[in-house]
Amino acid sequence: VPQTYRQVILKDRPVGEPAAHHFELVERPMPEVAEGQVLRRTLFLSLDPYMRGRMSAMKSYAAPVDLGAVMVGGTVSQVVESRNPAFKSGDFVLGYDGWQEYGLSDGSGLKKMVDWRWPLSYALGVLGMPGMTAYVGMLDIGRPKPGETVVVSAAAGAVGSVAGQIAKIKGCRAVGTAGTDDKCEYVVKELGFDACINYKTQHVLRSLRKNCPDGVDVYFDNVGGPILEAVLRLINVHARIPLIGMISQYNATELSPGPNLVPLLFNRALIQGMIVNDHVDRRDAFLQDVSGWLREGKMKFREHVVEGLENAPAAFMGLFRGENFGKLLIKVAD
Ligand SMILES: NC(=O)c1ccc[n+]([C@@H]2O[C@H](COP(=O)([O-])OP(=O)(O)OC[C@H]3O[C@@H](n4cnc5c(N)ncnc54)[C@H](OP(=O)(O)O)[C@@H]3O)[C@@H](O)[C@H]2O)c1
Repeated sequence: VPQTYRQVILKDRPVGEPAAHHFELVERPMPEVAEGQVLRRTLFLSLDPYMRGRMSAMKSYAAPVDLGAVMVGGTVSQVVESRNPAFKSGDFVLGYDGWQEYGLSDGSGLKKMVDWRWPLSYALGVLGMPGMTAYVGMLDIGRPKPGETVVVSAAAGAVGSVAGQIAKIKGCRAVGTAGTDDKCEYVVKELGFDACINYKTQHVLRSLRKNCPDGVDVYFDNVGGPILEAVLRLINVHARIPLIGMISQYNATELSPGPNLVPLLFNRALIQGMIVNDHVDRRDAFLQDVSGWLREGKMKFREHVVEGLENAPAAFMGLFRGENFGKLLIKVAD
């Protein structure tokens, strides 16, 4: 264990896009491990769009990060010293240590990764929070039926890629949207979607009309904004719209006027917001189903791994420009 370790703290609250000067990389002395405590070394840090909300003081479903505090985030770590009988040196744990190289606490909230047969990083991706978001959002709110048409935005990303593959497993036509031709090709050829629209180069409404000739029964919305507006024009009677994310709005400095909601009324469609933390009761079913689909080769998952804690701010900012291709992770240590 070294004598110092590094953290990324929130230095300033962004208005609009986050930038490097909103973060600061600081070095801290390694704390002593007191009786009852467990010290772990971060191996993987998950970077997720919701962290933009935590940088802001605006009212939300979770408290903001205080100025000067360590940025929050899900982590996979290895115990390096333990004075808590529940953990021993060498244990792998899933936690919420944030943007730092080491975490120290009494161990509450840490989940030991016993019998984990997958890459450790999957606990932050397909078999973690993003995968579970896709699972609950698609199955419990989207409720796709065989033969229906399902549209998924940010389809090449951590949540969207899993959501669309679940729609395929359930016998639906899956149409994605993504921001580059490479991503679209991956979504169709690797993930098995029926079509994918590059929303940056194609006319979204026209392309959706072409690729969803029977209208849209489920829209799994990760982005909000103009894509939501276009899909609403094509929704079918009794369509379901899980509102999962609004990434196109996270850096907005003014509230957008929003899409016209008349199609929801005329089609008696359901639109429902969802936050994954409310659904811990679905965790066992999610892990069982998704690990089964991975084992059977019915589901694929791509990761975008950046090395080094110092690169976390730049990698995080890239989420809002579509620079990640797959689940964005920081590999903090081997
Ligand atoms: N409700 C919940 O509990 C919950 C949990 C997890 C995640 N989420 C939400 O799910 C969404 C996806 O998260 P993720 O972790 O899977 O991230 P991700 O899709 O792996 O990465 C974010 C992607 O969003 C796309 N994007 C960025 N700006 C955009 C814009 N203005 N318009 C359209 N697309 C844009 C980019 O892909 P392109 O190249 O395709 O533009 C980028 O790669 C986010 O909105 C997130 O907040 C919600």
